[in-house]
Amino acid sequence: MLQFSTKKALGEYLDQQRQLGKTIGFVPTMGALHEGHASLVKIARKSTDIVTVSVFVNPTQFNDKNDLQNYPRTEEKDCQLLESLGVDAVFLPSVDEMYPEPDTRVFDFAGIDRVMEGEHRPGHFNGVAQVVSRLFDIVNPDKAFFGEKDYQQIAIIKQMVKTLGYKLEIVPCPIVRGADGLALSSRNALLTPEHRAVAPFIHKTLSQVPAMAATKSPAEICNWVVETINSQPLLEAEYFQIVDDETMMPINTFTKGRKSVGCVTVWAGKVRLIDNVVF
Ligand code: PAJ
Repeated sequence: MLQFSTKKALGEYLDQQRQLGKTIGFVPTMGALHEGHASLVKIARKSTDIVTVSVFVNPTQFNDKNDLQNYPRTEEKDCQLLESLGVDAVFLPSVDEMYPEPDTRVFDFAGIDRVMEGEHRPGHFNGVAQVVSRLFDIVNPDKAFFGEKDYQQIAIIKQMVKTLGYKLEIVPCPIVRGADGLALSSRNALLTPEHRAVAPFIHKTLSQVPAMAATKSPAEICNWVVETINSQPLLEAEYFQIVDDETMMPINTFTKGRKSVGCVTVWAGKVRLIDNVVF
């Protein structure tokens, strides 16, 4: 596995590979890698010739300084995992390498950023688009792989790809969960043992939502999910919202033939966890 820390060196390597007729797959990450990230790499490995993974904790997408400071960093272990997965190139840039000048671009996401994570983490998705567009410019992939754990992030990236005119395919990949149902997340490492023990209750609650949709309205289900999660003394729901799978806009009624997604954010002590259910 080749390791790169500069845009120039990675760009040159990938240009050579392209000239050899190879397709480029790209998995952007912030490190502290787990089986969720590994699943994206495995999917990329199957469908592209050269798999590139970036590991970069992007400061511009953190609206909370403490969150940025506490974000787990496990670079050496990450590289070992990526090597074992047969990754061709890992990109580990410094903040200065990614942002020699501050990025002042403001993206228009056609309203997708005004709900859920966009509403509750101001500036977060703008920062995600800043870094992902920079990474796309460097890597120039044929396909880029994103996890459905961050469901709204995929909609944001697709919108950015459309407005900036990138010629690449965004490949959504299923959520990977622990045996107890908890969605794997780098932030799970920060949970206290007590919070870790109750965190699977989030998925357990969400998994009851699809059956409820037959008899209850989105608003009724939202209240139920928030109350149920909050009945656990160690968990506190920040929001649960049901949106249309395509538009990401909140819905008041269910429409036959259209997919909905219910997205939740829950505080488990000082750790903010997200999850969703598509139905
Ligand atoms: P990060 O949280 O490291 O996640 C990197 C990718 O792994 C994202 O596409 C995310 O959805 C996916 N992922 C995380 N946990 C997963 C799980 N349990 N199952 C499936 N996929 C999972 O998302 C980011 O980083 C950043 O915002 C980034 C896109 C890299 C831009 O900085």
